[in-house]
Amino acid sequence: MTTTPPLHTVHSYEPRSGHGLPHDPFNAIVGPRPIGWISTQSPTGALNLAPYSFFNAFNYVPPIVGFASIGAKDTLRNIEDTGEFVWNLATRALAEPMNQSCAAVPPEVSEFDLTGLTPLPSTRVRPPRVAESPVTFECRSTQILQLQGIDGEKVPTWLILGEVVAVHIDKALLKDGVYDTAGAGHILRGGGPADYFTVGPEQLFKMYRPR
Ligand SMILES: Cc1cc2nc3c(=O)[nH]c(=O)nc-3n(C[C@H](O)[C@H](O)[C@H](O)COP(=O)(O)O)c2cc1C
Repeated sequence: MTTTPPLHTVHSYEPRSGHGLPHDPFNAIVGPRPIGWISTQSPTGALNLAPYSFFNAFNYVPPIVGFASIGAKDTLRNIEDTGEFVWNLATRALAEPMNQSCAAVPPEVSEFDLTGLTPLPSTRVRPPRVAESPVTFECRSTQILQLQGIDGEKVPTWLILGEVVAVHIDKALLKDGVYDTAGAGHILRGGGPADYFTVGPEQLFKMYRPR
């Protein structure tokens, strides 16, 4: 008995030679992804806010988060200059302003003004938090790595990693002290030009590690 599927049922490709499909499926497969909604401040004090869905958590203790800037963008430049950023949780209620905050505007234009969101002073870093977001992480940058391919060629993408130095959680999301992921209304990015997902109690199932 063979476990190899018949060739005609599998679409295989080598990304460097093209995917042969109407849309690159990569983002849709590695998804839905949490959104790194990142606020930063320039050395002259200009505020910036932008979403990054090539984002995730990479360590527990100390907590480290990271995201990829595909191209050198204002967020990357501000973090290179100041070493600080804030991660803000994007929820269903904040989906529209989160999306508006990706507008390609000059560095001196604040996405806080553009979206009408309220900057809330942070406690350990200079960039403000999004006051409307129920969970925020104040972060100090630990590493900024320019990515490279297997050929050793640098690509114009930078992975920005930062240690979370302060966490703020709306107490309404703490049920008997346990963070209520299913109740918080997280939004996640799928593939294509417009796909997003929410998570709620319907998606929750429990499975414990084998002992
Ligand atoms: C949901 C969402 C996710 C995004 N993810 C990324 C990402 O992972 N990396 C990236 O470089 N741009 C991403 N973008 C695009 C940036 O948000 C956009 O280029 C923005 O203008 C960058 O802002 P900045 O120059 O103020 O940093 C995303 C946009 C949206 C709406």
